Amino acid sequence: MSTKHLFALLNSHIEGDVEQFLSIALQVAAQEARQGHAEEAEKLKRLVQKARNQQRSGRPASGQTPIPLARPRGELQGLVESTYPKVTLASMVLSENVRERLSRIVRQQQERTRLRDHGQAPTTHMLLVGPPGTGKTMTASALAGELHLPLFTVRLEALFSRYFGETAAKLRLLFDQIAQMRGVYLLDEFDAIGSHRGDPNDVGEIRRVLNSVLAFMEEPNSTDSLVLAATNHVGILDEALARRFDEVIEYSYPDGQAARAILERRLGNFKLSGSWSSVESALDGLSQGELVRAADAVVKDAILEGGSKVLPNALGRALQNRQTLKGKFRRR
Ligand SMILES: Nc1ncnc2c1ncn2[C@@H]1O[C@H](COP(=O)(O)OP(=O)(O)OP(=O)(O)O)[C@@H](O)[C@H]1O
Ligand SMILES: [Mg+2]
Repeated sequence: MSTKHLFALLNSHIEGDVEQFLSIALQVAAQEARQGHAEEAEKLKRLVQKARNQQRSGRPASGQTPIPLARPRGELQGLVESTYPKVTLASMVLSENVRERLSRIVRQQQERTRLRDHGQAPTTHMLLVGPPGTGKTMTASALAGELHLPLFTVRLEALFSRYFGETAAKLRLLFDQIAQMRGVYLLDEFDAIGSHRGDPNDVGEIRRVLNSVLAFMEEPNSTDSLVLAATNHVGILDEALARRFDEVIEYSYPDGQAARAILERRLGNFKLSGSWSSVESALDGLSQGELVRAADAVVKDAILEGGSKVLPNALGRALQNRQTLKGKFRRR
């Protein structure tokens, strides 16, 4: 690629002119083709096509993105992570019951105007409970993906440890943003609110935080932002707090059938060259996240070894590795 093209690309990027950007990319493709680099040219063209398709489907493409707007400003910066997830519920392996409940929430959000016309409001506040790696964060991403909304993630534990003393004030800022900017908000490690209660350092602050959260949960949410609180331990939560959620969804380790479905999906084209029965015994007690890691490990090996299939033995070993790791770091 010539320097001239690079300058032009950068300029169009700075100007936010997506069309110009893509047309320069096509010029580069043409140049590559003229120089006999057919494969590179083809790759570039495909990427341009992909960018165009995304633009058309309304998904924010760079250059035109609402990202600067949807990025928390001021004091919330650094506390809130914002992303535009692309996953959807279809890419998750879920029980019928959970899938149905999540789909209903998506539908209510999509048709919120209709609900509002009849004096109803869509479901907005959900508590996601379950062990690590069972799909709570992925659910938040998938809901954001389905609704084409940004996902804002706040780790409450970090908020507490960094700003203890100002936590209530920081939370207020967050709640104001939720009320002003429509999005999916994941309040991760939500049990931090409950677990600091016995903290002798500042009982007053904890009370302020709890009251602030309780009050927030009662406030009407005119933007219909989805507020998802995720936790590994439900026991620690205040009952008054738990009652304020519209929905509580429980996540657990997958059963044999779900575990296989997750592995199969993740292996993709690298199908298992043999019977599943030999790996079944290694599935027990692994979370969705651990299964995905095991699948990724064998796929990577297969790629590097130039194979197109995965041996049951290799998968069995990868699963066993996850089991061993898990034993070493058993959670408290
Ligand atoms: N239902 C599912 N279907 C398919 N893949 C899943 C599912 N749940 C989890 N995964 C996979 O496991 C990974 C880890 O899941 P996720 O990050 O959502 O766990 P989590 O419940 O948020 O855990 P933690 O409590 O540690 O935050 C995901 O990135 C995804 O690859
Ligand atoms: Mg998570």
